Amino acid sequence: MKDVKIYTENLSVFFDYIQALNNVSIQIKANRVTSIIGPSGCGKTSFLRTLNRMNDLMHGFKMKGEVKIDGVDIYDDNIDVVNLRKLVGMVFQKSNLFPKSVYENLIFAPKLNNIKDKNKLDEIVERSCTQASIWDEIKDRLNDNALNLSAGQQQRLCIARALSVNPDVLLMDEPASALDPISTSRIEELIFELKKDYTILVVTHNMQQAARISDFTAFFYLGQLVEFEKTTKIFTNPSNKQTEDYITGRFG
Ligand SMILES: Nc1ncnc2c1ncn2[C@@H]1O[C@H](COP(=O)(O)OP(=O)(O)OP(=O)(O)O)[C@@H](O)[C@H]1O
Ligand SMILES: [Mg+2]
Repeated sequence: MKDVKIYTENLSVFFDYIQALNNVSIQIKANRVTSIIGPSGCGKTSFLRTLNRMNDLMHGFKMKGEVKIDGVDIYDDNIDVVNLRKLVGMVFQKSNLFPKSVYENLIFAPKLNNIKDKNKLDEIVERSCTQASIWDEIKDRLNDNALNLSAGQQQRLCIARALSVNPDVLLMDEPASALDPISTSRIEELIFELKKDYTILVVTHNMQQAARISDFTAFFYLGQLVEFEKTTKIFTNPSNKQTEDYITGRFG
């Protein structure tokens, strides 16, 4: 199917003897926002990290099943993992900027990808900051230490940094959970803007946020994908009792 960007079939993930995901089959649509919800430890982060092979770095990691992006098996032996991570960017709960200037943070990944020309790098910095809706705030602060920015600005800078290498997919693991309501709504607006150009997966513990920002919602429980539906359906008429209990706050 043309509009399917990410496809998993019977995906199971293990860390030594711990099973983090159990037979997850899902089809994530391109240029849509998909929320991943579920109680702590249900496998949300493990799922995101499977999609850009970040789990490969974890001790005892094993996976079974299939993960395809644009129809390509990303666990195939001849996949270039560095290139994959360029296409599938990630933003974490806490900003993980380097203690360097704003500018250096933004050009780090492009430079790794062999872009050296100063004009080209300047262009990338402006483009990615504009897309991450932070350009006006930092265009005069490019030489400041990135860690001096406010938490909300740091988080948008992390998004800009992820966008600096032109990804297709953006994975966001609780991107706004450490932020005040105004910074949170800026991130939410940004996510809405970005879906024109990117396929976005957002892990969130905030049900109102999932309802506001996403087209589709996936509810995970104990490593299984319990329900995956249009967000409006999940929040008004979930098919599964566990989903209903979770979104109404009866457990989790
Ligand atoms: N690197 C690892 N080594 C061992 N076990 C892990 C590792 N990463 C995750 N797990 C285990 O896998 C399961 C799923 O963890 P995961 O971090 O994906 O949950 P989560 O849904 O993101 O939870 P939270 O909402 O608390 O962030 C848990 O039992 C966790 O302890
Ligand atoms: Mg997590």
